[in-house]
Amino acid sequence: MVDIKTSLCGITLDNPVIPASGTFGYGYEFAELYDINCLGSFSFKGTTLEPRFGNPTPRIAECPDGMINAVGLQNPGVDAVIAEELPKLAQVFHKPVMANVSGFSVDDYVETVRRFEADEAAKAQIGWFEVNISCPNVHGGGMAFGTCPDAAAEVTAAVRKVTDKPLLIKLSPNVTDITEIARACEAAGADGISLINTLLGMRINLKTGKPVIANKMGGFSGHAILPVALRMVYQVYDAVKIPVVGMGGVSTAEEVIEMMMAGASAVEIGAANLINPYAAKEIIEKLPEVMDKYNIKKLSDIIGGAH
Ligand SMILES: Cc1cc2nc3c(=O)[nH]c(=O)nc-3n(C[C@H](O)[C@H](O)[C@H](O)COP(=O)(O)O)c2cc1C
Repeated sequence: MVDIKTSLCGITLDNPVIPASGTFGYGYEFAELYDINCLGSFSFKGTTLEPRFGNPTPRIAECPDGMINAVGLQNPGVDAVIAEELPKLAQVFHKPVMANVSGFSVDDYVETVRRFEADEAAKAQIGWFEVNISCPNVHGGGMAFGTCPDAAAEVTAAVRKVTDKPLLIKLSPNVTDITEIARACEAAGADGISLINTLLGMRINLKTGKPVIANKMGGFSGHAILPVALRMVYQVYDAVKIPVVGMGGVSTAEEVIEMMMAGASAVEIGAANLINPYAAKEIIEKLPEVMDKYNIKKLSDIIGGAH
């Protein structure tokens, strides 16, 4: 019998597989297909202080072995998530959930986390905050928080003050040196680092001669980005002492293991859920067989093994 458990910031997970934010809704939608309690956890849709209707369409472009999205953080806003989404989730998911939070100013992030913390039921459901710092800082000239170590540290330190829960900072790969940003977040009080978010990409429609996506550019994700994600997880594992949650292009049990060998304590599955809604479940079921094949008895033993 192999052991597929892992641990993330002091919380034990039955397995390391976590559907990634934006690809699994608020979870209960998938509970119509299978019992989502088989998951290690999942990260819910990036939630902002105010409701957001998202970007104009088209906002999805297909790519070989991947996709570009410019959904634009469409979500009903934190108050509606607390009042409507989380109670529905509580009926079908009985494990700590990862609360993914986005914002366009430091105050946005702080207030969103504070509202989750102020609601007893939401607080009990949330295991970790995963703070997505890929958004533009509207008060800081529009540059994404996650592309500047000082801005990344400022958000981390501010959110740190309003929660005692494990705080994961989710990094953008659209930087020259990912380790610099990761170290800044660690120094500012992060308990873990999630990476990677999407890579900036675009496609052009040959018939119109114009970009496919209404916003021109969007976030590239899916199987094609796996090598980039692995490289960044490997680098960040070396750079910080806090745990790393790896994601980017993972779609098989073998790739979960690869991500853990690079340094991930848990692994998120994103675009693969959009191709096959059973992807996360199937990966979990396959893990023991793949571990047997590579003579791995305990999954947690391989974390960072490639270093
Ligand atoms: C349609 C879509 C929506 C996403 N929305 C969010 C989001 O709201 N918050 C966030 O942190 N990441 C979001 N992401 C990024 C994913 O969580 C993940 O970091 C990225 O897609 C890389 O993983 P993958 O290659 O397995 O998809 C989104 C990705 C996709 C494809």
